Amino acid sequence: MKLKSKLIISFCIIMFMPIFLSLLFIAAFFRVQWQMVAQNIEVMPDVKGLFFEIVLTILLVLLLTAAMLMIWIYQSMVTPIRKLQVAANNIKEGNLDFTIDTMGAEQDEMNELCVTFEEMRRRLKENAEEKIVTEQESRDLISNIAHDLKTPITAVKGYAEGIIDGVANTPEKIDKYVRTIYSKANEMDTLINELTLYSKIDTNKIPYNFAKINVEEYFADCIEEISIDLETRGIGLAYYNYTDSDVVIIADPEQLRRVINNIIGNSAKYMNKSNGFINVRIKDVGDFIQVEIEDNGRGIPQKDLPYIFDRFYRGDVSRNSATGGSGIGLSIVKKIMEDHGGKIWATSKEDTGTVMYFVIRKYQEVPNE
Ligand SMILES: Nc1ncnc2c1ncn2[C@@H]1O[C@H](COP(=O)(O)OP(=O)(O)OP(=O)(O)O)[C@@H](O)[C@H]1O
Ligand SMILES: [Mg+2]
Repeated sequence: MKLKSKLIISFCIIMFMPIFLSLLFIAAFFRVQWQMVAQNIEVMPDVKGLFFEIVLTILLVLLLTAAMLMIWIYQSMVTPIRKLQVAANNIKEGNLDFTIDTMGAEQDEMNELCVTFEEMRRRLKENAEEKIVTEQESRDLISNIAHDLKTPITAVKGYAEGIIDGVANTPEKIDKYVRTIYSKANEMDTLINELTLYSKIDTNKIPYNFAKINVEEYFADCIEEISIDLETRGIGLAYYNYTDSDVVIIADPEQLRRVINNIIGNSAKYMNKSNGFINVRIKDVGDFIQVEIEDNGRGIPQKDLPYIFDRFYRGDVSRNSATGGSGIGLSIVKKIMEDHGGKIWATSKEDTGTVMYFVIRKYQEVPNE
């Protein structure tokens, strides 16, 4: 019952109880008076006693009613206030692992306040837990970055020392050392770029430059560029385009390249075969084009597959520690695809290989009426 109703009931009882009892008393008084007049009786000594008893009873009844009403109101206010006080103290101490009992029979304002308080506690707890996860993710990210930067830095230091100490004593050797230093510096540059992009992704600040792109030309260009790098790593690359030569998509060429580089980069990074191979197929699937990138690398265990697009997720860390990486590559890829109105997914078989699929909507001219 609402507190307001309780107060109205109490007010009515307190108002009408004395009136009702006074009326009873007056009625009894007149009845006795009438009997005395009718029977011509002088004041009877026991009538005085009777009146005294009635007044006493009325006072007692009033006292009892007032006390019961007070207990009723007090109970419905003080019990929840006590619960809230304990809860507020717990929250003040930073303890959020408790529940406020809101299952009482009463459905008044105080109970509603307890329900709201319990909701607040639940949200605070969720936020606190989320914060712990985010902090852990940030710590992991920092340690991964440190690890990823340390490898090329150690190499740069080693090769620079080689030049300074005169270990590289022929022009050919010096040239080789300088080139390695250059390529390691490039690796660091890429990593730092990825991190910058990642922070932009986190705050939805990727600057997209969408343009009409001819599928055949664009992918042929991309593949040519990547194949040179793969060749030096001893990985074969085959490219099959099954779409018509005039198919056009709307995409940001730079970001789409990032998607392709990231996926193929993973295929190369997680390649465990000496005859490593990557197949790129582009298919026409109605309103979309579907890009399939298949490798014959080490594959992804079924338990990891649902999570590979999650931020910071790295499959089997013990197997991955040698390869380096922060686990943000595919989360960036997924975000870029979503921002293009596309979709990305993967199938994989351990030790056999992985196929990454993504779809992008085709550009279609709206015919003029
Ligand atoms: N082609 C692939 N073959 C085998 N495993 C893969 C492949 N692609 C992705 N994975 C698995 O998915 C995980 C997530 O990939 P993602 O690209 O997001 O991160 P990463 O490669 O570990 O790090 P980063 O890309 O940030 O350097 C990888 O750690 C790896 O276990
Ligand atoms: Mg990666």
